[in-house]
Formats: sequence, C-alpha cells, structure tokens
Amino acid sequence: MIYLNTNSTTKPSKQVLKDFMWCAENVWANPSDISTDGMKAKQIIRQAQEQIAKYIGAKSEEIVFTSGASESNNWAIRGMLWGYPDISDIITTEIEHPSVYNVCTYLGYRGYDLHFAPINSTGKVDIQKLKLLMSEKQIFRPLVSVMMANNEIGTINDIKKISELVRDCHGFLHVDAVQAFGNMPIDVNELGIDLMSVSFHKFGGLKNCGFLYIKEGLNVVPLIHGGNQFDGRRAGTENVPAIYALGNKVERMNINNVNESLKTVRDYLYIGITEELNDLCNVRLNGASLDKRLCNNLSLTFEGINAEALITLLDEKGMCVSAGSACSAGEKKPSRVLKAIGLSDEASFSTVRISVGEDTTFDDCDEFVKALVECIKILRMI
Ligand SMILES: Cc1ncc(COP(=O)(O)O)c(C=O)c1O
Repeated sequence: MIYLNTNSTTKPSKQVLKDFMWCAENVWANPSDISTDGMKAKQIIRQAQEQIAKYIGAKSEEIVFTSGASESNNWAIRGMLWGYPDISDIITTEIEHPSVYNVCTYLGYRGYDLHFAPINSTGKVDIQKLKLLMSEKQIFRPLVSVMMANNEIGTINDIKKISELVRDCHGFLHVDAVQAFGNMPIDVNELGIDLMSVSFHKFGGLKNCGFLYIKEGLNVVPLIHGGNQFDGRRAGTENVPAIYALGNKVERMNINNVNESLKTVRDYLYIGITEELNDLCNVRLNGASLDKRLCNNLSLTFEGINAEALITLLDEKGMCVSAGSACSAGEKKPSRVLKAIGLSDEASFSTVRISVGEDTTFDDCDEFVKALVECIKILRMI
C-alpha cells in the first residue's frame, strides 16, 4: 500500500509504539493515587506537559490532555462560552472541521450570534473583510475559532493578524492546529492564541489522544466533570502510555526538517501528476499555491473524472488517497469546504485529496503517478 492520506491519519511510528508499550507495561498505576507508582505515572504526565509546552512556547500547566481534537475543539468553544456568559458573538469560518463547524452552528441555533469570517478563493480568512464585518456588526468581545491549516485544501491562515483583530475588540481566539502541528512552527504567545487544539494521530501518533492549550488565567468551564485530574479542568483517568508517547514524540520533532522534506516530496508528486496527465485530463490545484499551503497537502480537481470511482480504482492498485476529507467521505453531499471556495458540485465530486507523510519516497510518488495515469485512462474510456 502506498499511503497518501496523512491528512486523515498517520501510521504510528515505531518509537511511538515502543514508548507506549514500555509505559503500559511499566507505569500502569493510576496517576491520581498517592502511592509511589501513582506518583511515577503523574510524573510522566508532568513531563509530557513540559515537553509540549516547550515546543509551543507555553507553560506546562497550560497543557491539558484530551481524547483528541474533537474533544479539544468542543471543550474550547463550549467551555469558553460557559466561562464567559457575557460573550454573545461567535466568529468562525465555513471551512472548519466538523468538530468546530457543527458545534458553532449548534450554538447558533441555541441563540448565539454566529458569524462566518469572509474567506478568499483559496480559503484564507480575508483580514480586511473580517475587520469590516466586525465593525459593521459592532461586535465586541467575540469568541473566534479559526483553523491554522485546513484539512481538505491545506490553506494556512494568518493567525497573528487574526489574533490582533480579536485582541482589538477584547475577544478570545481558539485555533484548531490539528493539521499545522508538526508541520510548521507554532509559538502560542507570538501568535496571540488563547486556546489551541492538537491531535496526536495526525503526526505519527495514536488515536484518541491529544491536548488543549489553555492560556493561563482563562476561565474555561470543564466539558467533562468528574475527578480532580488537571486541577478539575478535565476529569477522567489519564491515558498515561499515550501521553508518554506523545510527549516524547514532540520532543523528538525537528520542525524545519519535516516541513522541508515533506514539501519537497509533495512538490515532486505534484509535478509528476501534472506532467504525466498533461494530455489526458485537466488538473486544478485547489487552495493556495505550492509554496503557500500546508507542506503535505494537495487538493486536486480532475476535470470530468468521478473522484469516488478514481479512489476505488487506485485502492485496487494499492494506493490510498481520499475524496475531500475522510469525515465527509461516504456522504453524498459535495464538500462544504470546496463549495465555500467556489467549486461547483461537479468539480467538488471530481476532487481528490492527496497527502504525503514522513515515509513517502520519490519512488512511491512515481508509482502513484503511474497508477493514476492508468486509472484515469480507464475512467476516460467508460
Ligand atoms: C482540522 C482538524 N480538526 C479536528 C480534527 C479531529 O481530530 P480527532 O480525530 O483527534 O478528533 C481533525 C481530524 O480529522 C482535523 O483534521
């Protein structure tokens, strides 16, 4: 299998599995126990908090482990609104992951004033138009939730500029950094982020594990009430082995190298696809240009080709890619994200997401391009 679907999930690295197993076998006490073993488990959590905090320029206590980014996103948004009852405006975008989009639309039905920040044709938040919207609607102290990088089209937002706007109107900024984390440098203070969601399985880790960064002093009401874990902020016995593996993985990450090598492979693949399909099929790159988008992502529209049929044929040849995002695959609706950047339904149904990973080689790219050409030829004959 040549796996080109890392925006959906990634294969856990060998070291991650090793760390997980070591911890599961050796440090399995409940971290809330005051026994020696319990304290060892607690120490592992503290160490992981420190490792992550160092990586994003935060403080250890600002990192709270969760079951992944869907929980982190829900918690950040709901918890802030519960903690700050004077907030009545929510600003987000139409291209957020469902774990942000759906909770925001739900809260819109429940009486909050929901606004969608204007985006341009690449999916990037248009800062000037957002500024205008905020002043026209006289928005004061909103909760803003904007993703750092998009999971379908790889668009990267200017988080610093957005945070400046948010600060100007005394609001709060939550950032879904799931796709960005591990692929680009992130310093929460420099970027002016109040809350940030991350998921471990998107960067060589395990599923159902992630964290929420919560800026010190913010009153985020818990989503999960129960025991006193994380000073009562997030109840539930911690997944210590996964947290141990997460902390170590983050400590090993060399952000600049990953970024550059992924980009090089991704660009090589794109050039291969466009050159080889030149006479066969029009290919359009959705989102920003190669140098301005998420380093591992391609969103390609193959004109006149049914994406689902193409993905099935590629799968038979041992190539894994996805249509739009994995979460909306299987739904017969065109992708909300692709529609938001102006694609027709037809173009949306002809769009494939291809995402490379640390293990992707140039040979994999060559093989994929060969298989792609064969599949497109078959589909052109039907
Ligand atoms: C941008 C983004 N946000 C949130 C999530 C949800 O993460 P998790 O699978 O950890 O719940 C995903 C996963 O696809 C994502 O791509």
